[in-house]
Amino acid sequence: MGIGDRRRLRRDQLGYIEKLRRRSTTGLIRLPWGAWCVSDTDLAQTLLRDPEYNTGKSGFFGELLPTRGAQVEVGHAVRNLVRAGMPHYRAALAKSTAELPAVSRWPAAGTRLVYGGLADLLLHPGAPVATRRLMHQAAVGGVALRAPHVWQRARAEVVRSRLVAAVTEEARRRREHRIGEPRDVLDAVLAVCPPHQVADRTAAELHLMLFRAIMAPISSSLAWCVLLACLSHPAPSPWPWSPDHVVREALRHRPVAWMLGRTIPRPVAFGGIAFQPGELLSVSPYLLHHDERHWPAPHAFRPERWAEKGDHGPYIPFGMGPFSCAGAAVAHTLLTESLTALTHNARLTVTGGDTRAAMSEGNVPRPFILHRVHCRPTAHDRGRG
Ligand code: HEM
Repeated sequence: MGIGDRRRLRRDQLGYIEKLRRRSTTGLIRLPWGAWCVSDTDLAQTLLRDPEYNTGKSGFFGELLPTRGAQVEVGHAVRNLVRAGMPHYRAALAKSTAELPAVSRWPAAGTRLVYGGLADLLLHPGAPVATRRLMHQAAVGGVALRAPHVWQRARAEVVRSRLVAAVTEEARRRREHRIGEPRDVLDAVLAVCPPHQVADRTAAELHLMLFRAIMAPISSSLAWCVLLACLSHPAPSPWPWSPDHVVREALRHRPVAWMLGRTIPRPVAFGGIAFQPGELLSVSPYLLHHDERHWPAPHAFRPERWAEKGDHGPYIPFGMGPFSCAGAAVAHTLLTESLTALTHNARLTVTGGDTRAAMSEGNVPRPFILHRVHCRPTAHDRGRG
């Protein structure tokens, strides 16, 4: 990749891949780092849905689990745990929202807010204080969401390895006793992973992976919801949209997972190009969500489109097909709950803020300041319950 490309990519990664798509005549684009992305919407959906390209284990879990069956079981166990913990999330979130200062720096403040709601579900309060402290450091210190600076990432790596060591010890301790109804994500993992298949250390790595898979997209998507809604409705009056529609539209406009990869199982021609087994082909939810053939005014942030009939194209913020997100419905509820808590009897405005994503593992918003002003409930608020 040349210096110019690198600079353009860093400046606006989403704008950059859109430009590549416009130039493509094959329905595929060559990404600057050499990989291929299926930019044609119909071909992209075939790649994600067709059992031909979605057999065996999903890449999401890497080599942590022995079979696809075990992956599905872990996904369901964690999803069920978080779903059952929703009343706890709501209550804990109300507390951390009340502690949010009137002026806060995002996306970091959003990460702290979400962590406030999820901490006990990730590692319940009976876990050793030192381990919970490490998880807190991991949540806010660049493990859950990749830190922007190299020195921060080096420090995060130290926290990450200490956390895995501490959770390995906790997994060993818990396995010595019978695990009843799962109290947190670690219990949920241990309940479906027998020790002869999944060692204590692997269970801890699974816990860490799930911690990041939950924390990172929820925090980033919440920050996008707040930023995009405030920029589209700068007046200090209630948003004219329901939290549900804001969440849907933010996940469409700025899907956090910007590339989903599939490894090609056998020689195949895609868009007229020959691929060999083992090669990686990607799909970009962002490109599908901004395809003008399927979405009217795709570059506009319009939560109201979700109240209108026939205004929707392919929507894949949680992927699609056999390997799609196990926690999609739960994630949607976590986000609407968070947005409801933030906007309850409060008006939000932002300063700074840029709709371009920052270069990271996913689409993360660039820093902005949120002003949250308490106000008396209006008839509109009361109507929202
Ligand atoms: C806004 C929040 C979230 C987003 C945007 C998101 C997105 C995704 C995406 C794009 C994938 C991969 C799909 C593919 O490759 O086709 C995925 C996989 C997964 N997600 Fe999520 N996710 C979110 C929250 C959650 C939550 C809260 C949970 C658990 C409670 C969860 C559990 C999983 C699991 C277990 C998988 C692996 C599925 C499999 O391979 O069987 N996710 N997620």
